[in-house]
Amino acid sequence: MREQLEKIKEEALKQIEASEALEKLNDIRVAYLGKKGELTSVLKSMKDVSPEERPKVGQMVNEARELIEAKLEETKTLLARKAREQQMKQEVIDVTLPAKKANIGHSHPNNVALKEVERVFVGMGYEVVEGPEIEYDEYNFTKLNIPANHPAKDEQDTFYVNKDIVLRTQTSPVQAHMMESGKLPIRMISPGRVFRSDEVDATHSPSFHQVEGLVVDKNITFADLKGTLAEFAKEMFGEETKVKFRPHHFPFTEPSAEMDVSCFKCGGKGCRFCKGSGWIEILGCGMVHPHVFEMCGIDPEQYTGFAFGVGLERIALLKYEIDDMRLLYENDIRFLKQF
Ligand code: DAH
Repeated sequence: MREQLEKIKEEALKQIEASEALEKLNDIRVAYLGKKGELTSVLKSMKDVSPEERPKVGQMVNEARELIEAKLEETKTLLARKAREQQMKQEVIDVTLPAKKANIGHSHPNNVALKEVERVFVGMGYEVVEGPEIEYDEYNFTKLNIPANHPAKDEQDTFYVNKDIVLRTQTSPVQAHMMESGKLPIRMISPGRVFRSDEVDATHSPSFHQVEGLVVDKNITFADLKGTLAEFAKEMFGEETKVKFRPHHFPFTEPSAEMDVSCFKCGGKGCRFCKGSGWIEILGCGMVHPHVFEMCGIDPEQYTGFAFGVGLERIALLKYEIDDMRLLYENDIRFLKQF
């Protein structure tokens, strides 16, 4: 019995020592210490041992079991460490390799232009106000002196939600909201998206952006309008920029004008960019129509004001010399990356 035990023990230890994989250790554990393992079968044959011998043999079996277990445990740790070292060797990270560049986004040219416009006007003490994109016909048209059947309603091909509600065709309705709020004086710009049922081409899109401007106070004159917008043009397009006002018509302003800036490409001499004229049309403007004041609850005898509306895409296209508006909406990162 002793010899048998000794043999089992030696055989087990030899096998453990020779094993190179963790799974193999587990097989050995089962083969020797498991329910049907060799050591266990020795225990089962204890009944054949004489009663005096039994404690002795029992102790030997236990010792053998402990020894095998300890050896198993030790080898397990060793093999695990070896496996880890092997893995570490395979997974070396070369910290000197150049890192992959994260693909971060870019400001949209519209946004760059808007930030610029906001910087200029906020610097002059204007507040930035937002209005709804879905608007009452009344605010988009009627309160801006564009009554039913007015041709301007056709000019700005309108998307109707129902007969009273439209997708705003201009940011001008924000003027009416501001005046109605009753807080005077007003000095605000209002950027936002507008909608017109236009076909897409190089200069048109059914959805684009405007920045509205409105100043209302006592004694505001056309000279204030001119001075303010001339300053804006210089800040946007360079100190040398000159402005020119051409008479125009907008229903909600009287008098109305369009403002041109001297071509910042050729300085006004005339080039391909300004189509040889030396001037580039930039915005619409005018003095708030007394009728609009009345409809929005402001006394035109006491207050005067000026307003203006700029196409944001137009500014972005001009400033960055982009010749097709569609590029602004395709979100091709190769294009956007340049701004
Ligand atoms: N709302 C006009 C348009 O979409 C632009 C405009 C012109 C706005 C003159 C104004 C203004 O505030 O005074 O064509």
